[in-house]
Amino acid sequence: MTRLGVVGAGTMGAGIAQLGCAAGMEVLLHDPVEEALSRGAERVEQGLRKWIDKGRAGEDSLPLLRVTPRLEELAPCDLVIEAAPERPDLKRELFASLSEVCGPDTVLATNTSSIPVTSLAGAAARPENVVGMHFFNPPPLMALLEVIRADQTGERALDLARETGEAMGKQVILAADGPGFLVNRCGRPFGAEALRLLQERLATHEQIDRICRMGGGFRMGPFELMDLVGVDVGFEVAKSFTELSFGEPRWKPSPIQARMVAAGRLGRKAGRGYYDYAESGPYRPDDPEPAPGADSAMVAIVGDGPLADALRERARAAGHDLREGGPAELVVDAGVTPAQSPPGGAPLLVLCAASSLAARGEPGAIGFHLLPPVDDCRLVELTRGPGAQPFAAEAAESFFGGLGFATEWVEDAPGLVLGRIVCQLVNEACFAVGEGVGGEDEVDTGLTLGLSHPRGPFAWCEAIGVEHVCSVLDALWRERREERYRLAPLLHRRAMLAGWRPQT
Ligand SMILES: NC(=O)c1ccc[n+]([C@@H]2O[C@H](COP(=O)([O-])OP(=O)(O)OC[C@H]3O[C@@H](n4cnc5c(N)ncnc54)[C@H](O)[C@@H]3O)[C@@H](O)[C@H]2O)c1
Repeated sequence: MTRLGVVGAGTMGAGIAQLGCAAGMEVLLHDPVEEALSRGAERVEQGLRKWIDKGRAGEDSLPLLRVTPRLEELAPCDLVIEAAPERPDLKRELFASLSEVCGPDTVLATNTSSIPVTSLAGAAARPENVVGMHFFNPPPLMALLEVIRADQTGERALDLARETGEAMGKQVILAADGPGFLVNRCGRPFGAEALRLLQERLATHEQIDRICRMGGGFRMGPFELMDLVGVDVGFEVAKSFTELSFGEPRWKPSPIQARMVAAGRLGRKAGRGYYDYAESGPYRPDDPEPAPGADSAMVAIVGDGPLADALRERARAAGHDLREGGPAELVVDAGVTPAQSPPGGAPLLVLCAASSLAARGEPGAIGFHLLPPVDDCRLVELTRGPGAQPFAAEAAESFFGGLGFATEWVEDAPGLVLGRIVCQLVNEACFAVGEGVGGEDEVDTGLTLGLSHPRGPFAWCEAIGVEHVCSVLDALWRERREERYRLAPLLHRRAMLAGWRPQT
């Protein structure tokens, strides 16, 4: 029987101890703060009782828990998982002490979310026995465990971490050490790009959140999530990414975060963050239903690719008379590469992927963007050229309304809001995989199970098409001249092999 030691009886430690007992391990929970220890033990017992009632744990799991305020009592453990406060000095001291207390075969794991495991291993007497075991909050409920290989980690430590996670019922993914490991690194663009969009005033925080929920199928928008996690916590994480990477431009913190923290708007815990939680009742309006659509019309949907095909299918199903050439009452250019529009003065709607509306030189047009798979999308983003007539804007709203989409007006940019966020998620995932942080399946599993994304970045890329993803990023790079939009070498290679070429 595995003897598991857990250091720190807080939110994460108590959850990990519960998992250990439920999996039939003898668990020794340690915390130097007596009150924290008894509170933690109480939480473990409560959690186990709930699981016993549901048949998820046996009655015999309860007596498996023992508690101690003395670190020395962890000596006979096979595996010790450290879940003490996120302070590098404190953790390094703990790893040095645990090395003295425990036997030469004990594997020492850390649940840190941001401190390099390699630096903690360096503080241990036997660095090859040190490994990262990154559980997600709350550990009993979240299905994922990220096992992190420090530079010094040996195979035996890695195997024990993986086997223990599997015995606890977790889906285990393996990641290399580095800023944010695999999951938090690959998830970073969700918040970081959203902050960039807000800084550029492309949309308000409420709009960005709504677009992510309704257009992308995310459970929560990035600003709701920042409020939930704590704006100050997110700011600290962003600073640590910059520090650990020596200034990688994609990972720079946002001046908006700094201002929010200075103003004390720390999120839900402070009653105010991006949203106001002071009043009882909802902090944001419910998501809207699609506006009623127009009658059927003669519509020309031009362009190639998964999105153009899906829109043609929807428009046909909605009763529109689809024209291939000749006169039409509305022209929709839904291809990533701009197509030749049919002649005539009909309102023109163009996909803002390979350029912004402004850069495309169609001041009278309406820009739009949405991402496949279209069946999972409930909202289309629209943007107005400076010369667009009100009837063209109305035609765009009613066309997409008739296809069952809500609409949201935002400012002009390649990919608009969701395209920009999702393409940066794909880009970051390609940087990470290209740098050996983990495999593609691991990234997709990690982001769906660890961060509750509707699909992983590689599944997104498959659905959207590599040409669409690279076109948005390349257009952002051309129009912004910012390093943060450079293509990951892996993504660039794939796109070139698929026949995509950057615009010159
Ligand atoms: N909370 C999360 O969402 C989350 C998610 C993943 C990882 N983590 C990581 O897990 C670790 C613990 O986080 P938490 O949220 O459970 O924190 P917490 O504050 O709830 O618990 C920390 C516990 O450690 C105890 N402690 C203090 N000094 C100690 C020492 N010298 N030795 C042993 N224990 C000591 C405290 O009394 C407290 O009970 C951190 O490294 C954190 O980054 C947290």
